[in-house]
Amino acid sequence: MAKLPILCYPDPRLLKVAQPVAKVDARIQALVADMLETMYDANGIGLAATQIDVHERVVVIDTSEERDQPLVLINPELVWASPETQVGEEGCLSVPGIYDGVERSTSVRVRATDQHGQSREIEADGMLAICIQHEMDHLMGKVFVEYLSPLKRTRIKTKIAKAQREERR
Ligand code: NI
Repeated sequence: MAKLPILCYPDPRLLKVAQPVAKVDARIQALVADMLETMYDANGIGLAATQIDVHERVVVIDTSEERDQPLVLINPELVWASPETQVGEEGCLSVPGIYDGVERSTSVRVRATDQHGQSREIEADGMLAICIQHEMDHLMGKVFVEYLSPLKRTRIKTKIAKAQREERR
């Protein structure tokens, strides 16, 4: 397994649309293992392959307290999303230090393949529902800050650029 570098907003590679995985083989299993290691190391609750510059439809999530319940979604498809919405505070490993409210469906049902090639449907609400929608957005080239106002986005870009300059010093 290997820890991989995470792309940082506004890197244009985060805008790429991911391609479906044709077959869950050893290469995809190795990718999943690397993504899990990268997510846990960064203390994140979700990571999309897009964020490590791999443009295939693979997502890993773990919203458990103990950090021992990895959920792997390959080729996830939204089957249903509740018309009821909620505004939750979101953050992203690609947008370090930034948290803001985003309105999303309260519950969702998703069909996806796991790392063993098994297809299944998952029903989620609460934090898991938010996380699934957030990660599926990444696969479409969308970062959560795109939901915020242009003024907020400009402030975020400025803040991240400043943090990166300080890091390089
Ligand atoms: Ni994210």
